[in-house]
Amino acid sequence: MMEGFGFPASAGQFRFQAERQIVERLIEGINSHCMLDLGCGIGSWAEYFAHHFSKVVAVEASKPLFNVMAQQCASLTNVTPIYGDALSFEPEEPYSMAFLGGMLMYLNESDVVALLRKLIPFIDAGGVILCRETTVRQGTVIRDGTYQVAYRSVQTYTEIFEQCGIASVKVEANMPYLLMQMGCETIKKWKGIMPSPLQAIPVAGWLTYWGLRLCNPWITSVPALFGRTFPELTNHFFLLRPAISEDS
Ligand SMILES: C[S@@+](CC[C@H](N)C(=O)[O-])C[C@H]1O[C@@H](n2cnc3c(N)ncnc32)[C@H](O)[C@@H]1O
Repeated sequence: MMEGFGFPASAGQFRFQAERQIVERLIEGINSHCMLDLGCGIGSWAEYFAHHFSKVVAVEASKPLFNVMAQQCASLTNVTPIYGDALSFEPEEPYSMAFLGGMLMYLNESDVVALLRKLIPFIDAGGVILCRETTVRQGTVIRDGTYQVAYRSVQTYTEIFEQCGIASVKVEANMPYLLMQMGCETIKKWKGIMPSPLQAIPVAGWLTYWGLRLCNPWITSVPALFGRTFPELTNHFFLLRPAISEDS
């Protein structure tokens, strides 16, 4: 998300640490047995979860990302790396938590529904599904091309979850993401108005990043005060609990 914007190397680490605090709070009190990390990317979260759950099953469909993740988690004996598509993955054991971090946006709506319905019987009593998804303020925005994604609104996700019989226990804005996204969209605008030789991205990125960090958190509420929908993309955590069926 943050390459090419001139932000310092620590920007990704800052966002990850801040998101970790949110996740820790959201999942406080759930069982720490087995967890499933679907679309685990390079495994930053899988590695983190390995210190909190007795077993982590980490699934990734991209071979290069899978390889990085497998290497990163090689010393963690409680991580089971699986190279494959989440849609064809067959769960085999009960999970205290399924984490889908930025994966649903790559799936069309019927695949999202099919995937969640497949997971529900494997979430143990008291267990949760935690999604972290990039969102838009209204409806659904499809981006085609080399990077194909569907950005959905909180309402659209809530309706999809309801279709699957899943209650949203909590929906929380991902403020660390929002702050970084404000920076990314500011630099994109800068690139759009300045001729290339004058862009000085390392300087513009550094100033933008540290300006936002120093003015955090109040800066995130400024666009709304002026009636501006900025940044265009937001991000939310969805803490979901499958409804308990009558026969369970
Ligand atoms: C935005 S990245 C997030 C990675 C990681 N979950 C995180 O939060 O840092 C989404 C990941 O989902 C993976 N992915 C997308 N569709 C997938 C699918 N159908 N099956 C498995 N992985 C998938 C992508 O390859 C990518 O690594």
